[in-house]
Amino acid sequence: MADPTVSSIDGKLAEEFSIPTHVEEVKQKMAAFATQHASAGRRVVLITSGGTKVPLESRTVRFLDNFSSGRRGSTSAEYFIDSGYAVIFLHRHRSLYPYTRMFSTINMLDALQLKGGEEVVVDQQVLPDIAKVLKKYSEVKESGLLLPVEFNTLSEYLHMLKVAAQALSTIGSKAMFYLAAAVSDFYIPASDMPEHKIQSSDGPLQLSMKMVPKILSPLVKEWAPQAFVVSFKLETDASILLEKARRALDTYRHQAVVANLLETRQTSVLVVTLNTQAELLLTEDEVKKQVEIEEKIVSNLTAAHHVFITQQAG
Ligand code: PMT
Repeated sequence: MADPTVSSIDGKLAEEFSIPTHVEEVKQKMAAFATQHASAGRRVVLITSGGTKVPLESRTVRFLDNFSSGRRGSTSAEYFIDSGYAVIFLHRHRSLYPYTRMFSTINMLDALQLKGGEEVVVDQQVLPDIAKVLKKYSEVKESGLLLPVEFNTLSEYLHMLKVAAQALSTIGSKAMFYLAAAVSDFYIPASDMPEHKIQSSDGPLQLSMKMVPKILSPLVKEWAPQAFVVSFKLETDASILLEKARRALDTYRHQAVVANLLETRQTSVLVVTLNTQAELLLTEDEVKKQVEIEEKIVSNLTAAHHVFITQQAG
């Protein structure tokens, strides 16, 4: 029998979050990608990355944004590919992207030099690793192991995640969901949204926002019930982090939570499962050597995914 909570979330999604016009086309692409790679013996991970945007007006001038640079998602995508996975990268438009992320702070024009007035060459001092990264990027492009899909708004994110889950449900336990995006908990339904730009001449702005349905619930129970699902938990107060991660596992019954604190998220995380918890840390020496914590997160989770697949088969 259909779970009433799940049916009500499905109903809300259809009624209150506008459906992107190209969602069916994206679903077909994701389904074809998953089938192709799973039949070649590969596991497939769907990574969500970056923050969602919640518009305050239909013809949007202002919006609320959730914090996330996309570093966690884009860096993890590279390590998943290195571990043999095919990656669907569902990311916020213009957030950090695998491989190009390494040059995100560089002004492109500072990295180029004019030679003889017409020819353009790359300044290797500004971009010392460019050849190595370009080689890797081209190999990945050629191999078709990375399928990028973009979102901007919360509505786009929710609908894209739903069709991604449905597309990946065909490959069962070979699919992993790695939900690193920072997703808004509040929104204004389309029916309550003013059409035009809110006028400051009307005085101070008072907002009333509704709660966004927790999408993990239908994802785990209905859309992709056989998949290995990893959610993330971001907090600023260390004393509640573990308890919040445990509560999420208790509520949604998925496989793992990666819990992190805003300030230390690049050097320390907790990977929490129903029966275990592992603290993954970078030592000072590793930080100096530019080791990335995502390498350890991905290694931990791909091993757990392997065990999960074996157990499901047995
Ligand atoms: O991108 P970076 O700058 O590198 O930062 C990485 C990060 C800190 C954003 C990342 O590591 C992280 O913690 N991401 C999750 C942040 C978050 O929004 O947590 P949350 O408590 O709001 O949500 C917890 C989980 O519930 C998430 O996996 C989310 O996908 C899921 N969720 C959230 C809202 C919602 N309506 N439905 C959901 O299912």
